Amino acid sequence: MFDFVFHNPTKIVFGRRQEETIGEELKNAGMRRVLFIYGRNSIKRSGLFDRITASLDRSGISYVEYGGVVSNPVLSHTRQGVELARREGVEAVLAVGGGSVLDEGKAIAVGALADDDVWNYFTGKEVAGALPVFTVLTLAATGSEMNGNAVVTNEETRQKYNIGSPHVYPRVSILNPELTISVPRDYSAYGAVDAIAHVIEGYFTRQAGSHLQDRLVEGIIKTVIETSNVIMREPDNYPARAEFMWAATLALNGLTTAGLREYSFPNHMIEHSLSAIYNIAHGAGLAIVMPAWMKWYSARAPERFARFAREVFGREGAAAGISALEEWFAAIDAPVRLGEVNIPAGDIDMIAANAAALASKWGIGDLYRREVIAEILQLAV
Ligand code: NZQ
Ligand code: ZN
Repeated sequence: MFDFVFHNPTKIVFGRRQEETIGEELKNAGMRRVLFIYGRNSIKRSGLFDRITASLDRSGISYVEYGGVVSNPVLSHTRQGVELARREGVEAVLAVGGGSVLDEGKAIAVGALADDDVWNYFTGKEVAGALPVFTVLTLAATGSEMNGNAVVTNEETRQKYNIGSPHVYPRVSILNPELTISVPRDYSAYGAVDAIAHVIEGYFTRQAGSHLQDRLVEGIIKTVIETSNVIMREPDNYPARAEFMWAATLALNGLTTAGLREYSFPNHMIEHSLSAIYNIAHGAGLAIVMPAWMKWYSARAPERFARFAREVFGREGAAAGISALEEWFAAIDAPVRLGEVNIPAGDIDMIAANAAALASKWGIGDLYRREVIAEILQLAV
């Protein structure tokens, strides 16, 4: 266990109907006027929009509506949101939706306080401050509700880059598992893949760690698999949705990587290029990349892969564990080959070039050169 600082400032309010308290939470935090950001149709279809605005009205919080965030949020819409937030003089951002809405909300929170273009903060400029962010989560997957990351795609340059800053941790995140019951089957599966990806990156790549961290990771993966198997059969199973939701939050809130050293996120690095170029769902891209990367990487950490096979799937040997994970992805109807999402093998070099730029940005460019990324992607054909 290496030295570390763990400081997660997000207050989590978890349970049925808790979204009705959002007005009170904002009022208690001293907020009077917010930018209320959301996605496309789901929030209105479910009646959540009306419940949120009723809660804001009850607490005397005025709001500026900003809908239309797309899955894999884009820079142009983010920039417009920054303009709106500046013009309307909002004091905070209230993001209600999945990871895409939360991420764009965080980016707008940064841009609103900056005097330059928000994209600068994705390409390396340090974030100096942000409006306070409050969230009501409707899709469990990304962990954005309890972390300092925001991922946005620059649709002109096809760069899917992230901000990582303590300033964008949400102040309060409301997690009501009931809200996730309407998440479609495919996105429920992609959420499971994403949560697993978040914990295995550190688990396999870390140069040193601890048994506690390994067990946390294995516990999260087993929980995600068990609860997802229930959710696939019974989408409205509250206990399964609840455990899944909390597992996904813990998967990327700093808990499982505290005390690790020299870990990296190569699967995310490669996937971000797939969703940047082809606009596929993040979890779908990860289900394709992960088995390929594991096959390529496993010889570098054979004991860790053997442990994974044994502890998570009760199987012997690295290859058996990788197959078991891939089979499970296929069983929940997540794609595991590029062809399943119509990405031609002939595009691999172009994708690898895009990903190699992100690898350099993340400081892993020495290992993940363009030709290495292409070699990994060939295993996903
Ligand atoms: O736009 P609406 O109509 O709301 O539909 C959304 C969207 O089409 C729908 N949805 C959300 N909640 C629903 C619902 N439909 C019915 N009922 C509900 N309760 O689901 C679709 C997908 O939503 P989205 O927010 O895009 O999914 P997700 O939460 O998986 O977020 C993906 C984004 O997060 C990024 C990804 O790269 C991707 O851009 N990530 C963010 C991370 C972070 N901030 O830490 C880490 C991740 O690794 C990831 O990169
Ligand atoms: Zn992810």
